[in-house]
Amino acid sequence: MLGVDPPEHTRYRKLLTGKFTVRRMQQLSDHVADITTTHLDAMESAGGPVDLVEVFAFPIPALVICELLGVPYHDRDFFQQHVAAAVGGADHSMEARGAAFAAVQDYLRGLVLAKRNAPTDDLLSDLTGTDLTDDELSGIGTLLLGAGLDTTANMLALGTAALLTHPDQLAELRNDPETTDRAIEELLRYLSIAHTSARTALTDVELDGQLIKKGETVAVSIQAANRDPAKFHEPDTFDIGRSAVGHLGFGHGVHQCLGQQLARVEMRVALPALVRRFPTLRLAVPVADIPLRHGLDIYGAHELPVTW
Ligand code: HEM
Repeated sequence: MLGVDPPEHTRYRKLLTGKFTVRRMQQLSDHVADITTTHLDAMESAGGPVDLVEVFAFPIPALVICELLGVPYHDRDFFQQHVAAAVGGADHSMEARGAAFAAVQDYLRGLVLAKRNAPTDDLLSDLTGTDLTDDELSGIGTLLLGAGLDTTANMLALGTAALLTHPDQLAELRNDPETTDRAIEELLRYLSIAHTSARTALTDVELDGQLIKKGETVAVSIQAANRDPAKFHEPDTFDIGRSAVGHLGFGHGVHQCLGQQLARVEMRVALPALVRRFPTLRLAVPVADIPLRHGLDIYGAHELPVTW
């Protein structure tokens, strides 16, 4: 889906857009709040220090996307491991990434066949009622599962780290619920975890004096756009008081993120709930020791040790 142009892309996008509307995603808000409360309760009774990725940032979006798609959550170890290898960047060869991707797709293909035979109340079952083929459906399922897991999880982890290292901003978010929406947009801008995108020119294009010839591929830096001083005042400053509207954290144009409303609901619910439940939350290691995800398609943290 990410790699095809209209009209092929339009066909997929039309089938999916109605399932991810603002209204539909906001209806999920109470459910996301319940899932968040359960995880915060477990975290509190376990006691710190904990790895926030393991107990909070990964399981919340994983549960939400699994329920939405109709993917059994108990298979999470399998797909978490393979999704991680598929986006494995410099740590994995292209062959290893391809094999991991194929394994997730095979898994989804099996699930699609099962849903065709016995539909359940979820998105994959819904989509079996369209003219999408099994291959198309398992491809879309793989993209949604991967995109739904890896992105929001890293925003929750890295977003928490950003807040913990900017106590004044953290205090504002904790004390004033009105700041939530702006804080989330600013985190999306400032962190730009989906940092790079690629496009191929269909005709010769001149951009800012630079000729890009037909057929040439361009790597686009979303991070650079989100730190453009012509667009954002003091762009390297994390400031939840600013309006970050117009940031490119979810991309731009026909491929702009399909799941952005879902991601927003998850972040708007989970992050304030975390910082309010644990007023003394802090990093359990020096910032420099947080194992960051270098060389991967999605930036983030492998682990985030915190205590309170
Ligand atoms: C904070 C979390 C997220 C971020 C930062 C993010 C970022 C992005 C970006 C930058 C793109 C555009 C890529 C490009 O143009 O090359 C994109 C596309 C996409 N995202 Fe997200 N995403 C997030 C969450 C999600 C979630 C939760 C889902 C699924 C439910 C999702 C599903 C998709 C899909 C299907 C596309 C491809 C859309 C198309 O090609 O028409 N994303 N995302």
